[in-house]
Amino acid sequence: MAQQEKGLADLLEHGLKDIYYAEKAIYKALPKMIEGASDEELRDAISSHRDETEGQIETLERVFEAMDKKPSGEKCDAIDGILKEADSLLKDFGGTAAGDAAIIFASQAVEHYEITRYGSLRTYAELLGLDDVAEMLNEILEQEVAADETLSDLAEDRINEDAVGESDEEEADEDEDEDEDEDKDAQ
Ligand SMILES: [Fe+2]
Ligand SMILES: [Fe+2]
Repeated sequence: MAQQEKGLADLLEHGLKDIYYAEKAIYKALPKMIEGASDEELRDAISSHRDETEGQIETLERVFEAMDKKPSGEKCDAIDGILKEADSLLKDFGGTAAGDAAIIFASQAVEHYEITRYGSLRTYAELLGLDDVAEMLNEILEQEVAADETLSDLAEDRINEDAVGESDEEEADEDEDEDEDEDKDAQ
């Protein structure tokens, strides 16, 4: 027997509490990423997404209001894990050739997490006939998608290539030597 009856509205409410907690945690974590970034455009991109995040927190408060609920967060282990990993990536890669690539690597994990959650929550709101809520969630979703695309563009334009450091070149040389050996074996 199911314990207590729970439906999509309960899942929506739970998800909103989760993402409200997550957005606040992200807002708090972003300054470290901004400080750690050496590429000016990357710094600006994260910085303006932090401003956007502040607006998202306010939008979520309006979502709670529209549902006659008090805005409240619920500890979200997923985002805590992603942000913890981001922190250790910053420590391990900060100041290295791969520092900015690592910041994008960590930031995109955050954005993708947000995208998956807002996608589901928007769909639940639509199904429940909460059109105004669905619209607000979609507005946030679009900002997350745009932030993710900006990060991809920066990575592809130059940051990944800039991250190819001396150690990679050494490895490439080693691979070349190995290839030569293989060629000899093949002959
Ligand atoms: Fe967000
Ligand atoms: Fe985001």
